[in-house]
Amino acid sequence: MNRCLILGLIVCCAVVAFCSVDAVTLESSRSRENFDKDWSFARFGPQPDGSSLSEPGATAWLINAVASSEEGVRGNIAQNAVDGDMATRWCAAGVDLPQWLQCDLGEVHSISRVEIAWEFPELTYGAEIKGSLDGKRWRSLPTSCRYLRIAVTELPDSKWASIREVRAIDSEGKQVSNKRAECGVQLWDAGFDDSTWCQLDLPHDWGIEGPFRDELENNTGKLPWRGIGWYRKQFSVSADDKGKRIFIDFDGAMANSKVYLNGEYVGGWPYGYNSFRLDLTKFVKFGEENVLAVRLDTVHWGSRWYPGAGIYRHVWLVKTAPIHVAHWGTYVTTPAVTKESATVKNVVTIDNQSPEKMSAKVITIIFELSADDEVGAEVARSAQSDVTVDAGKNAKAELSAVVKMPKLWGLKSPSRYLARTVVAVGGKLVDQYDTPFGIRTFRFTAKDGFYLNGERVRMNGVCNHHDLGPLGSAVNSSAVRRQIRIMREMGCNAIRTAHNPPSPELLEFCDKMGVMVMDETFDCWHRGKRRNDYASIFDEWHVKDTEALVLRDRNHPSVILWSTGNEIPDRASKRGMEISREFAALLHKLDPMRPVVNGCNGATHHMKNGFQKTVDIYGFNYAQNGYPAFHKVEGNENQPFLASETSSASSSRGEYFFPVNRNSKADFQLSSYDVQHPGWGCTPDAEFAALDKTPACLGEFVWTGFDYIGEPTPYNKDMSNLLNFTDPVKRAKLKKELEELGKIKVPSRSSYFGIVDLCGFKKDRFYIYQARWRPELPMAHILPHWNWPERIGEITPVHVYTSGDEAELFLNGRSLGRKKRGPFEYRFRWNDVVYQPGKLRVVTYKNGDPWAEDQVVTTGKPVAIALESDSSRIDSDGMELAFITVSVVDANGLVVPRSGNLINFEIGGSGELVAVGSGNAASHESFQAHHRKVYNGKCLLIVRSKSGVSGKIKITATSEGLTSAKLKITAK
Ligand code: GAL
Repeated sequence: MNRCLILGLIVCCAVVAFCSVDAVTLESSRSRENFDKDWSFARFGPQPDGSSLSEPGATAWLINAVASSEEGVRGNIAQNAVDGDMATRWCAAGVDLPQWLQCDLGEVHSISRVEIAWEFPELTYGAEIKGSLDGKRWRSLPTSCRYLRIAVTELPDSKWASIREVRAIDSEGKQVSNKRAECGVQLWDAGFDDSTWCQLDLPHDWGIEGPFRDELENNTGKLPWRGIGWYRKQFSVSADDKGKRIFIDFDGAMANSKVYLNGEYVGGWPYGYNSFRLDLTKFVKFGEENVLAVRLDTVHWGSRWYPGAGIYRHVWLVKTAPIHVAHWGTYVTTPAVTKESATVKNVVTIDNQSPEKMSAKVITIIFELSADDEVGAEVARSAQSDVTVDAGKNAKAELSAVVKMPKLWGLKSPSRYLARTVVAVGGKLVDQYDTPFGIRTFRFTAKDGFYLNGERVRMNGVCNHHDLGPLGSAVNSSAVRRQIRIMREMGCNAIRTAHNPPSPELLEFCDKMGVMVMDETFDCWHRGKRRNDYASIFDEWHVKDTEALVLRDRNHPSVILWSTGNEIPDRASKRGMEISREFAALLHKLDPMRPVVNGCNGATHHMKNGFQKTVDIYGFNYAQNGYPAFHKVEGNENQPFLASETSSASSSRGEYFFPVNRNSKADFQLSSYDVQHPGWGCTPDAEFAALDKTPACLGEFVWTGFDYIGEPTPYNKDMSNLLNFTDPVKRAKLKKELEELGKIKVPSRSSYFGIVDLCGFKKDRFYIYQARWRPELPMAHILPHWNWPERIGEITPVHVYTSGDEAELFLNGRSLGRKKRGPFEYRFRWNDVVYQPGKLRVVTYKNGDPWAEDQVVTTGKPVAIALESDSSRIDSDGMELAFITVSVVDANGLVVPRSGNLINFEIGGSGELVAVGSGNAASHESFQAHHRKVYNGKCLLIVRSKSGVSGKIKITATSEGLTSAKLKITAK
């Protein structure tokens, strides 16, 4: 008998016994269908090439506006001053006054006056306002006119001409309305012809398609992610589904989504990082074709990093009976855990969307769950709970079961269970809802660190942004799993989801692979960091967003901490502290099991000004020298703290600059000697020392595990950004200087902070963390590479990272000295090595015994390409990816460190190219091209199978002057 059948019988018996009536329907009404396939897509507003395409229908304003200049790139365009929305504005990009804004009222009105809402209403601006019938001859108000021109004649100190709204008032005192003109076409209309749109499957990120453009912001990756995107999809709903509830679940859509079904507005969710559900039922046409349309708007979204754009996570169509387990409607906790048994509590919310009061019976059955989601044996079940739910209301059932000899979820063996919640009404099974969970205990102490399952564990964590390098923000399970695998190889045991709700996949793999998560909500609250960032929706959305995050994520065993935000600007104010307390109260209500943290910059101030008391665990961002003082502050003695963000060391893989110091850099790259960091950061070594001197600190979250798109500190700005000074006098002076000196374009578009680069290739820094985080692993790593023909006879320092405690370095067989690790020393340095080509070898020891060795060898010239795939076999589902490391090697097969050859790829058979990358943060080569220059010896090729096509994926890599390479991967 096969495994599925056995399981089916187990569940079947369970349900029969549970319903204990004759007419048992063994099929639950719930279904969850992946909804990623076959969407049509078109993009309006700012286009990839810098032009603009107006959005049909939606932008047909009666009043149109133009201006002398505008900040088009940042979305501060003239039309914003007449869109009836105070959150948007026009801002002049030019310096000289008068800047002007001109409105076309569409028809002639008798205008008595004009009201202007300036950007800063408390300051004084001056303007001259005139009207005209033809746009040529101008008269003072009041006058009959079709055109209005507002010339800004006076500005407050250091401010630009900038208007939120212009209102024209007619002779009867009424505002000239700017209602949308009749325009015939609306993109949400079911009948709209989208046959010329492009066809695609989700997840989709329209920004990653590029091209990189010099004039776009470095901090958001120089990619054209700003735009208005429309997605449309046709689908049919069977007539048999009539009577069911039909929902659409978005795992995430960037940003400001508005969803329409069959021409009717259903709802939306502005924060692009959260998951949300919409109820489609009342708009669905059963037994017919339906048309779903989704509008996304990233023009009105602001970010400090690359946010991506589009429906970049999965979408699901969910059908249920009218009475069903609510969305994210289970809350599974394990309040009592011993070696012998664990109490599993499941609080189930039942929604009754039927017109009648209903009585339901609910139980939960606990099964073992394997790492690849196979449901195993039943291990426990709760007693039955009877719930009565009024029509249109919900009610809770509290269920409890005891698991004997529980297998705990831990970092080494992350065992999981499945809570299957079963709901029956009148003897019929109406819903079956599965919740994977884990059994574990944890405890944060003030003096004695963090305990997981009774064992003291130091948090060896990293912060990561959500993008997946060359894949952009479009989520992909293989890519998420690979990221976590690489982090675990380093010994990382925790991830902070900087600075927003993660994809469901990230939590799924952290659960499965044994990695803890600090689950974070926001990068700002009431006071923003960028125009149109979360601050612009905070008031209306922060409670809904926090609830969505916690309800979605609170059953994951990996999640151990809620973070209410990062470096929140309003933290110091009275209101900021109130908000922080409100957040903590809300989180405790939604999930009393996990503590609340907040990542604070200015940490030594906020640890004593009262803010520290608004959270359970205090989070230091940087300020590592402040740790010892934390518990000395009165009232803090019993409060745990951790280093929520550390180091920000920056480097480019395979680049070394001399002399070795904090400022040696060139060509928009940073040195991989791991001594560089911005003013607020420190070297990994300095952070380790601070942590070792303050064992009470629970651990650290390094900024960052992976390089990410955007924020290429210190190359975030090109010289033209000097013009960002708001003071017109200063600007004029700088503009002149720049004209004389010429502009310096800074191509950098992704970060240098990563311990591994944007492609997942390890930088040297990987090994300093591995040495500390996996002390039991014998390892040693030498840097730099040993190809320095121009440095013969010159001092070329050598550093070694090792988990050993002694190391001896040899150059061409000659010992350069054996060194012992001193207190608070985390690397071995030989600072006076005189370069000679050949072989550098290190032999390390631990407790006097040989421990690990490493060597670097001067290589020969590039002669060939080498290909190595992380998997030889992938699923032919069109989703699973193979990551192929492409190296340029010498005659002995050694990777040539400084090579930059251009490699061409041909993918045949059953596969296709998804993306290429090299980890070079300053490269503007396309991520989707079929060629790539290796960067310091390596580049990455990502392939997948064509959907549903099994067979061999044939990869050929060629390059002028190099022996080509071939590789086959099986798609099954
Ligand atoms: C921190 C901030 C991060 C990132 C980092 C770069 O202050 O929280 O988001 O910007 O600096 O060092």
